[in-house]
Amino acid sequence: MKKIISYLLVVILIIISSLKLRADEGMWLPILLETLKIKDMQAKGCKLSAEDIYSVNNASLKDAVVIFGGGCTGELVSEKGLLITNHHCGYGTIQKHSSVEKDYLTNGFWAMSQEEELSNPGLSVKFLVRMEEVTDAVLKDVSETMTEVMRHEKISANIDTLIKQATKGNQYLAVVESMFLGNNYYLFIYEEYKDVRLVGAPPSAIGKFGGDTDNWMWPRHTGDFSIFRVYADKDNKPAEYSADNVPYKPKKFFPISMKGVKEGDFTMVFGYPGSTTEYLTSYAVKMISENENPHQIKLREKRLEIMKADMDASDKVRIQYSSKYAGIANYWKKWIGENRGLKKLDAIEKKEALEEDFTKWANSSPELKAKYANILPEYKKLYSQLSPYNLALTYFFESALAIEIIQFSNKFNRLKTHNSETLKNNKESMLNTSKSFFKDYNMPTDKKVFISLLKMYKENVPTEFLPKIYKLIETKYNNDYQAYADFVYSKSVLSNEEKSNAFINNFTTKSIKKLENDPAYQLSNSFIEMYMEKVKPYFETINNQIDSLHRHYMKGLMEMQSDKIFYPDANFTMRVTYGKVDDYYPRDGVHYKFYTNLDGIMEKDNPEIYDYDVPDKLKELYINKDYGQYEVDGSVPVCFTASNHTTGGNSGSPVIDADGNLIGVNFDRNWEGTMSDIMYDPNQCRNITLDIRYLLFIVDKFAGASHLIDEMTIIK
Ligand code: ARG
Ligand code: GLU
Repeated sequence: MKKIISYLLVVILIIISSLKLRADEGMWLPILLETLKIKDMQAKGCKLSAEDIYSVNNASLKDAVVIFGGGCTGELVSEKGLLITNHHCGYGTIQKHSSVEKDYLTNGFWAMSQEEELSNPGLSVKFLVRMEEVTDAVLKDVSETMTEVMRHEKISANIDTLIKQATKGNQYLAVVESMFLGNNYYLFIYEEYKDVRLVGAPPSAIGKFGGDTDNWMWPRHTGDFSIFRVYADKDNKPAEYSADNVPYKPKKFFPISMKGVKEGDFTMVFGYPGSTTEYLTSYAVKMISENENPHQIKLREKRLEIMKADMDASDKVRIQYSSKYAGIANYWKKWIGENRGLKKLDAIEKKEALEEDFTKWANSSPELKAKYANILPEYKKLYSQLSPYNLALTYFFESALAIEIIQFSNKFNRLKTHNSETLKNNKESMLNTSKSFFKDYNMPTDKKVFISLLKMYKENVPTEFLPKIYKLIETKYNNDYQAYADFVYSKSVLSNEEKSNAFINNFTTKSIKKLENDPAYQLSNSFIEMYMEKVKPYFETINNQIDSLHRHYMKGLMEMQSDKIFYPDANFTMRVTYGKVDDYYPRDGVHYKFYTNLDGIMEKDNPEIYDYDVPDKLKELYINKDYGQYEVDGSVPVCFTASNHTTGGNSGSPVIDADGNLIGVNFDRNWEGTMSDIMYDPNQCRNITLDIRYLLFIVDKFAGASHLIDEMTIIK
């Protein structure tokens, strides 16, 4: 008896600890909070109702959260359309307005009046009007006996119909996204505003302080924010840029709380997480961590090394390549962290244990057996088939398409048309492409990348995936990549702006031959051909089969663990994630506090190191302790960590307190927690937030843009 009781106790303890363990995991669809999550959120301190967060009928927090550009989140903070996002989200825009003479990247930019705000063609924000489950409509006339191809076709047709209905007679955008790996579908309706102007950005030495050295790391001191303003026409409706547009008046904007955070405080992040894959099997995790990440890391390392040397040697190249470099470095480092995290967490073993349970469960009755017993063996088979194609695909994207002249050559395909009207339009768009390409192009850098990556492709990819061009490199150039590069870059018209533009301007159907004989185009074409013939079809066929398994496996998991509340993988749709302000213990003997402050910036200060060169003005404020109302315990708070489950796309997301006030801007995760896209560990996974008080301090005391603070609603 005693034995049984102690056994039961252990079981209960395990259950409790596992419940507690996974407490902050999850990215929830806002419309499901009411039924699934609001009670738990309130038990953890949230004072809002589900209706305060997401409502179709009344203004709610969701009306203050937008998709910013192509892959970030932003939030409205004034009734005049003022918007906050990250510095790294506005980076491309800031860079486009910058030149050696007017270097906003280095010096920052502050519009002191609305007239000075800078317009940004191509940049938009999207407000979510509403979301709705449409599973039945999407799966109408879809049967389990259909082939996957037929199923896809039927589903796309149904989605088209839904989108047409949803956008009829209005100017909204509609998207249908699958949830739970094809088991459910949701419709999202957006309103897009296309006049978004740059209002302010701190110098990179603040907005990117710590640079790639500190990226993904804690303790962190980055003032990662930039400020924009959304403009609308006189009726507050979306409009293309016009001098007559007026600041947009949002349905809702965030009040800003200066009360600060304590350990354990409830926090919520509201935004657009891009992509996670939490329900993969051990086979997939193995492929990613052993056969994909290491190659991607190696290839990017090479590219970064080459770029960095050239950027260090020239200011012009530094400005041209800073945005590209940051983009490449970001996921390079993320994959390194992800692999370490997966290993430390024993992710593969954990997946295997779950799969063992699944197998037992799936074999426990004839009905289950018929539906689910085959899934895992099938997975195993398909991933081993997929692996070589996946490797070729990885190299295609991370080496061939990483060479800038190949990317550029590729764009010329749009001129291969016999329709004169199309040709005329495409010539125009090609001239624009060429202009922005060459603005940030340094041929010698690209040439070095070219030589290294073409070699690495050859050395690492099975010969069946070698494009024909390698024959030429072998026979004509004796595998001397330098000689081949000299030939391509000197003979191609696409490596030089003037020649390129002349070629585009004079392009007629007769030029198609010339294009096809251009060495850069030939190289690019050779890779594309190989990819289209030898990789894409096989990769897609296998993946279609895997998709079907995913759908059934997900369904099975949900059936097996019927008490668990599941969340769908991130897919750049609006989500709420909640947790608490929290410190962590990254490794044995080390404890990280949950916050940093200005003193830490001065500790890192080192004019010799580019990433840690603190601006004089900030030093002056520090020396004079000129902190104004932003002072806390003799310093200014800068960043804090919390246990919200976030991912790429959550950059710029509002971090919200229990009352729905803005307390910070999400901008990163800790390196030890980057495996959360595949498996979340509550002990290690932390999101990193810019404390709103540091933002206000910089805007007010550093930039002297107090008119922006006056526009906001500040709660003290
Ligand atoms: N790691 C952050 C994110 O994933 C910030 C990236 C930008 N910063 C950088 N140093 N590259 O987007
Ligand atoms: N910096 C990321 C972004 O651009 C957010 C960090 C993450 O991946 O969690 O969205």
